[in-house]
Amino acid sequence: MTKTNPGQHKRAIERSLASLYALIDNRGEDLATRPSPFPPQNTSALEKLLAQECARLTSSADTRLTIAKHVCKALRLHLWLHEVSTFVESDNGHLISCLINQAEAFIHRHQQDEPVTAHRASAIISSLQKQFRVKSHTLHQLPCTPTTTAKRVELIKKYLTPTSRILCLGDDDFVSVALALVVPNEITVVDLDPQVTTMIKRLARQQHLRISCQTADIRKPLPDNLYHFFDVVVTDPIYAVKETLLFLSVAESCLRPSAQSYLLSCCSRTLAGAAWHGVADWAASRGLIVHEVLSGFNEYPKTTRIQTLLKIAERLFCRSAVTKACVGIPFLYSDLVVFRFDRSERGNEL
Ligand SMILES: C[S@@+](CC[C@H](N)C(=O)[O-])C[C@H]1O[C@@H](n2cnc3c(N)ncnc32)[C@H](O)[C@@H]1O
Repeated sequence: MTKTNPGQHKRAIERSLASLYALIDNRGEDLATRPSPFPPQNTSALEKLLAQECARLTSSADTRLTIAKHVCKALRLHLWLHEVSTFVESDNGHLISCLINQAEAFIHRHQQDEPVTAHRASAIISSLQKQFRVKSHTLHQLPCTPTTTAKRVELIKKYLTPTSRILCLGDDDFVSVALALVVPNEITVVDLDPQVTTMIKRLARQQHLRISCQTADIRKPLPDNLYHFFDVVVTDPIYAVKETLLFLSVAESCLRPSAQSYLLSCCSRTLAGAAWHGVADWAASRGLIVHEVLSGFNEYPKTTRIQTLLKIAERLFCRSAVTKACVGIPFLYSDLVVFRFDRSERGNEL
């Protein structure tokens, strides 16, 4: 995980925005003369260019991506690097759309400087993240930005009543901490990583927060008292569809079967592509409906490994000014979906 300071972060964002806008601007990448924010006509011209590139690459890069997948499999890279495994399992068209969507999400988020929020929670989350040793390969950890954690808190608050019980199923993003700083509700964290649960427990003790933690593996049965107990469950699953379904199934089984219960899950619908039907079918089979979808809601700083793998893949298999600028973006984006039980199907209080 690359740990950058706020100044480096800001410069990386500016550089990346400049190289994207340079695609429609022959004056080049001079940061000093960059109008900030970019005029709306520049933004729509850039979005048009990205859409054209997406269509062009979908037909032209197909064969090269298929060869790349064969090479990765022959070298057995997909067995060692889960990012490569996601690459070989994803449909070529969706990989291209995903790359272009990431650039669009980045432009929407950063073309205007985000207001600096001197939020107490953001400072605490940043300091927790600095101490946290990310286990990206074994546990697929990829902590989001503190701003995203703060945004999730605002979203979760919409779904709470004063008595709602909340479960964070996996919490390397420290949502439980940021939430407990602003709401009085009881919060439970379940995570396989003892470092996550220990750090949260310690902070909860210091700050007198109502958080309890359990170190547990969701691939095995959880303690009985967690099932059908929570009004709101929040999770950021592993994005491979099979693992997403595991996280979602466990999350659903911990929800109180009520029309007022909500399951908030991060996901990447573009990367899942056609396989997203599996999630839709799963939801229907549990009597859940999609209550809200927030595209590009989550922002994650790219790890050095992801950045390197993307750069190598781009140079070997795509090689265009547009894909180079897209790959240079310092973040990854994903969506957030809110599910709830379908009242019409299962009655108001189930
Ligand atoms: C799954 S990771 C986020 C993955 C990210 N969305 C991705 O696809 O790269 C979120 C949290 O789940 C935890 N986690 C991973 N596997 C787990 C398991 N089998 N049981 C419980 N928690 C798990 C991690 O430690 C982390 O804190």
